[in-house]
Amino acid sequence: MNEELFEQLEFVENPLFETIIENLLQQQYSVVNDFFVSEEVEFLRNSLLAKYDADRFKKSAIGNRTNEEIDKTIRGDFILWMDEKNANEAELLFFKKINELVNYLNKTCFLGILQKEFHYAVYPTGTFYKRHLDTFQNDDRRKLSIVCYLNEDNWKRENGGELTIYTEKDEVNILPLPGRVVIFESQLLEHEVKVVKASERLSITGWLKTR
Ligand code: OGA
Ligand code: MN
Repeated sequence: MNEELFEQLEFVENPLFETIIENLLQQQYSVVNDFFVSEEVEFLRNSLLAKYDADRFKKSAIGNRTNEEIDKTIRGDFILWMDEKNANEAELLFFKKINELVNYLNKTCFLGILQKEFHYAVYPTGTFYKRHLDTFQNDDRRKLSIVCYLNEDNWKRENGGELTIYTEKDEVNILPLPGRVVIFESQLLEHEVKVVKASERLSITGWLKTR
């Protein structure tokens, strides 16, 4: 085999992804600051806002797409499913990075992630998502949940909207800071989105799934 080809096939360790894996193994969740740099966040935020302004979002439901029900006492966000096949430039960048992570997880952890689904989400002031698990009675394929925050740089604690993850031992409160990505075990960790007290809370949420 010639040297060049060998180099391409060689496995290259990725320190960031290794940290994520280590966190998941130890505590079932991982919080990564600056998974997306601020230009990328702005690019994605603009993509989200353009679609939101064009009125393409709909009221979120509970349950999955075949078994859904709108209940504002459980969640109050507005969502738009992303379509990788018709992705704009910002979304291509998003999926490129996510796919790198998926390929890495599949190679190193044999997770068997074959599908993914992502949606934009907007939580207007006053909305929340009550404590829940990301799996459905008629679908247990969701393995990892991924939340990417697209808020402005000046997002403040007083705005509320923390993600609270309930571990066996305690509650972990995570601010939805721009560029931050939270990854957790969909079937194991209950979590909630606390009331947004000011501003709009912007994010992309998705799931890595087995068949
Ligand atoms: C969800 C969810 C968490 C967040 O959409 O299922 O729990 O921080 N989102 O937005
Ligand atoms: Mn959830």
